[in-house]
Amino acid sequence: MVCLGNICRSPLAEGILKKKIKDANLNVEVASAGFVSYHQGDPADRRAISTAAQFGVDLSKHKASIFTKKCFDLFDYIYVMDEANLNDVLSISRDKEDHKKVDFIMNELYPGENRIVPDPYYGEAEDFVHVYKMLDIACDAILEKIKREK
Ligand code: 4NP
Repeated sequence: MVCLGNICRSPLAEGILKKKIKDANLNVEVASAGFVSYHQGDPADRRAISTAAQFGVDLSKHKASIFTKKCFDLFDYIYVMDEANLNDVLSISRDKEDHKKVDFIMNELYPGENRIVPDPYYGEAEDFVHVYKMLDIACDAILEKIKREK
């Protein structure tokens, strides 16, 4: 799961999918990363933490990290939130195989529409809830896809 700061959207997506994977008794690695070094090592945004907690998802242990080329080797799917994240990820992709792993997370629900998950950082608490709900249904679709592929 990739966004810009790795403190709002991608930690939410990571926490949501991890919970669904655990509840389904599956064994799948899920992680998140961003692209700005000034948030490296930071916890998730307090609004992301409290929104997630409202829905039973724990983000209290999150530490922001940076997306690197190695992520292409470690993961089968790389989900981005918006066009800027897509460009950031693709700017360090090495070949077609890397490129093929990357997609907008909302394309799991609306294939090919390239809908974005809006950045809630400069928004209000309700923007975090809106983002949470988008990511929740996208992660339902990802879970179904994982089950089909098992
Ligand atoms: P995120 O939100 O990409 O969803 O983690 C942001 C967090 C921090 C900043 C931008 C977006 N920032 O510019 O510091």
